[in-house]
Amino acid sequence: MIPLRIGAIAGAGALLACLAIYLRAAQAPDGPRDIEARISDLLGRMTLEEKIGQMSQAPFGPLTDQVKAEIRQGRWGSFFNAASPADRAEAQRIATQESRLHIPLLIGQDVIHGYETVFPIPLGQSASWDPELVRQAARIAAREAAQAGIDWAFSPMVDVARDPRWGRIAEGAGEDPYLASAMAAAITRGYQGERLSAPDSIAACVKHYVGYGAAEGGRDYNATWIPEVLLRNVYLKPFHAAREAGAATFMSAFNTINGIPATGDEFTLRQVLRQEWKFDGLVVSDYNAVREMVAHGYAAEDADAALRAIRAGVEMEMFSTTYWDHAPKLVAAGKLDPKLIDQAVRDILRVKFRLGLFDGRAAAPVSAPKSTPEALAIARQLAVESTVLLKNDGALPLRKSIAKLAVVGFLADSKVDQNGTWAMTGGATTITPLAALRQALGPRRVVYAQGLKGSADTSRGGFAAAVEAARSSDAVLLFLGEEAAMSGEATSRAYLDLPGLQPELAAALAKTGKPVIVILMAGRPTTFHEVAAGVNAVLYGWAPGAMGGPAIADLIFGDAVPSGRLPVTFPRTVGQVPIYYDHLSTGRPPALTGPAATDKYRSKYIDVSFTPEYPFGYGLSYTKFDYSGVRVSPAEVKLGGSFTVSGEIANTGEREADEVVQLYTHQMAGSEARPVRELKGFERIHLKPGEKRTVTFRLTTDDLAFWNPEMKLAAEPAAFEAWVAPDSASGEKASFRIVK
Ligand code: GLC
Repeated sequence: MIPLRIGAIAGAGALLACLAIYLRAAQAPDGPRDIEARISDLLGRMTLEEKIGQMSQAPFGPLTDQVKAEIRQGRWGSFFNAASPADRAEAQRIATQESRLHIPLLIGQDVIHGYETVFPIPLGQSASWDPELVRQAARIAAREAAQAGIDWAFSPMVDVARDPRWGRIAEGAGEDPYLASAMAAAITRGYQGERLSAPDSIAACVKHYVGYGAAEGGRDYNATWIPEVLLRNVYLKPFHAAREAGAATFMSAFNTINGIPATGDEFTLRQVLRQEWKFDGLVVSDYNAVREMVAHGYAAEDADAALRAIRAGVEMEMFSTTYWDHAPKLVAAGKLDPKLIDQAVRDILRVKFRLGLFDGRAAAPVSAPKSTPEALAIARQLAVESTVLLKNDGALPLRKSIAKLAVVGFLADSKVDQNGTWAMTGGATTITPLAALRQALGPRRVVYAQGLKGSADTSRGGFAAAVEAARSSDAVLLFLGEEAAMSGEATSRAYLDLPGLQPELAAALAKTGKPVIVILMAGRPTTFHEVAAGVNAVLYGWAPGAMGGPAIADLIFGDAVPSGRLPVTFPRTVGQVPIYYDHLSTGRPPALTGPAATDKYRSKYIDVSFTPEYPFGYGLSYTKFDYSGVRVSPAEVKLGGSFTVSGEIANTGEREADEVVQLYTHQMAGSEARPVRELKGFERIHLKPGEKRTVTFRLTTDDLAFWNPEMKLAAEPAAFEAWVAPDSASGEKASFRIVK
């Protein structure tokens, strides 16, 4: 009977083989097995030079004959920034039709907060505490960028930043890993959509991996010293969240981490990202960061930098050309394992396949996108929700029947500044606050005075006209802050004051006795205690983007109610920095009340309060919210079990409004000292006057896990406190325990 069996087996085998081929062919073009097979086939046909070409990325300059020849030669796997849609399409055409292997280019761009439609800067978006709205904005950015021939955004930037002297705090989500994680995942999902190969999806690039925001002294590109428990419990968290959200690519950072350049760090790039997180996309270096390992005093020369970056797992070199210049010789000399080259190219090609670049995307028509009404509506809503009301003695909202309104300050009418840092494209639809206010009240009821030409203007010559405008009006909107060029990359400041004569201008206007409302635009927390003390209200608008003008007008007249909450602590003075809410208690915690308040020997200053000007999570409304009834159930929860923390919130004011309810916990003892508060949840709710609602957060003990001194991620039996609160410095608390 054997023949039958053999025959049967043979027949079955052939049948299975046919089935496998059919299934593979039937799979969507970006099915995993299909892609790996196609990568292997392509890799097997590539020369070493073509492989290293794929690992090389250049800024998109003019499409000269030389660049076209290099594309045909396979010299570049990717270009970024500056090109026009037409140039991008032509470069792709040459790569896919005139190079030997027709490998498409990966075209990247700093799409940081919008492409054609400019949204608020990321720090502002984070102040909305509205990840879903942030995701929608990223979805619009992806659609617009993809239409213009871009496949890849160098965003989200998820560097936790606790130091406002660092100008790049503007580009991230602030000081808290939980909020930054929510934003990182939202932006990643917005860019990549349901399917990365969809024509309106682009690849995310999570940056700057890792620890860049901990630059010593807040000085950009400076060294960072981050113990592993801090690296894992704070700085890596938002990167992990983006990885979990499916981020296709990462970008290695400029800084050293404990003496090792992030772009040559095998621990973070291979052990954490590849082995622990199973990341299989590509890592691109930041701009020139490979070559800069020589300047760091880490690599001996360019060839050494190339060798150590490739070994560490940086697959694509941005701007510097050490891979192209030195990798072939390193391979020939037996110093660089060619398998590392193959692995790098495999990861790069995998991203290109997943994007659908080999399956039609590279030949898709490209054109310059326009902002749709829906996109502008999202931009307006996000600008409204990002704006934080820091002070209001009742002057706001103004009545639209106001007879005359003075508008003062250069930031009231500066499109480039309201669009903020890294707004490299777009902005055709930007409407300034001055234009929006004139639209709302009619030009006759708005009188404008610049006051100062800019933050560097040392002349008081414009003050008289500003004071005169105030005197002739019923209220003053005073726009103060930083120009866009004062935040973002390479803009560290040693002072955080409002730059130049702006405080003096504020004082001169306050002296008129008219109601003065300050609208502050900046890319970071600034210090303005005296200014705030001297005026009636303060709104912090960050850089609100294209629809910042209409959004500010909505808020000023009460057509919208402020609901933004600070994603970062505002210091009283730069001397308090670093100052952040999730700090450790110390052995001598300072206090504002009780015996500790008068005890000299406490962790505080003798010349300024230890408390911030405004705490993380803070923000006012035009109504009032009362918190009560905080409960944890059960009050004793088994390790591995689940529990709820709930609180009752009542709108006790006269206006309906949003409130961002925040959940904080504190582990009171354990294997290491833990922060006095940690954000563990938040929910944006909407309450009518008189309405009250119980907000319930559902957690498991895993939500309280942290990386402990043994480098284990675990929750611990301990006593805890929990707050359901309006910000990180207030709210009612309840106690609970985790037990074995
Ligand atoms: C810059 C920035 C990075 C940006 C890249 C490309 O130096 O550090 O965030 O994406 O270069 O412009």
